[in-house]
Amino acid sequence: MSADLFSLKGKTILLTGGAGLYGRGLAAMLAQTGANLILAARDVGKLQIVADEEQAKGHRVTAESLDQGDEASVLALAERVHARFGALDGLVNNAVLRPMKGANGAAEQFAESMRVNATGVMLMHRHFGQKMAGAGRGSIVNIGSIQGMIGPSYELYTGTNMGDMPPDYFFHKGGMENLTRFYAALYGPKNVRVNNLAPGGFFNHQPEPFLQRYCDHTMLGRMADDTDLGGAVIFLLSDASRYITGVNLPVDGGYTAK
Ligand SMILES: NC(=O)c1ccc[n+]([C@@H]2O[C@H](COP(=O)([O-])OP(=O)(O)OC[C@H]3O[C@@H](n4cnc5c(N)ncnc54)[C@H](O)[C@@H]3O)[C@@H](O)[C@H]2O)c1
Repeated sequence: MSADLFSLKGKTILLTGGAGLYGRGLAAMLAQTGANLILAARDVGKLQIVADEEQAKGHRVTAESLDQGDEASVLALAERVHARFGALDGLVNNAVLRPMKGANGAAEQFAESMRVNATGVMLMHRHFGQKMAGAGRGSIVNIGSIQGMIGPSYELYTGTNMGDMPPDYFFHKGGMENLTRFYAALYGPKNVRVNNLAPGGFFNHQPEPFLQRYCDHTMLGRMADDTDLGGAVIFLLSDASRYITGVNLPVDGGYTAK
């Protein structure tokens, strides 16, 4: 066996939310593999900038519009993608909406979050996963969070103005981890694998007291950068992981192991 096991060359991969903090780095790393990469999010203008930058490097990247909170939009994207490329080889559910700002955020914001981050994620598995199952192959990688595995660490935020943590995020990221097992079981017999990654915090110039405490809590002594998640995503999309399904893999510098 060779390094070809890890190859995504020529495979059609859809990445949601390809312009955000983690998403931009994932777009760059997936584009570099030689995959046919489709980026999809609500703000297609921002995605088009990413697609243009990647195309200028000779990569195959296109931008598509998607509102994951609207089933008609998910279906329309599925129709466009399937008509042009057939069943996806890989789907990376990375998009997230963060409408709720703290423990006492409005119930309507919680509901809005569920529409995109719970119902919408389920619909992505349904409308793209069924087609993959019909083709008898594929890999879905969900981008969860360590905040789907553990409760809030309030002590990290003392003395900062970083705001309060919202309950919706802990609810849907925890749900994503077990939704992964549901679809891994459903699609497994059709040779479609479904796995969850739980990234740790992304370095974004957070205030010093938080940074120090957070980094001390990891085993590697630092927050994540825009190249830390891509390797695990490429591995789970590729044939190198062909007997791995239904897992949750923390990519957190050891944060949740401590
Ligand atoms: N940033 C972190 O520290 C961190 C830590 C752990 C996990 N994560 C996870 O990583 C993933 C990416 O996070 P990020 O911080 O890069 O996010 P971000 O907020 O920077 O980007 C989110 C992306 O999702 C898209 N999006 C939002 N609502 C949408 C909708 N209704 N339909 C389609 N697209 C929509 C946005 O356009 C944007 O491109 C998320 O799943 C997040 O939960 C992030």
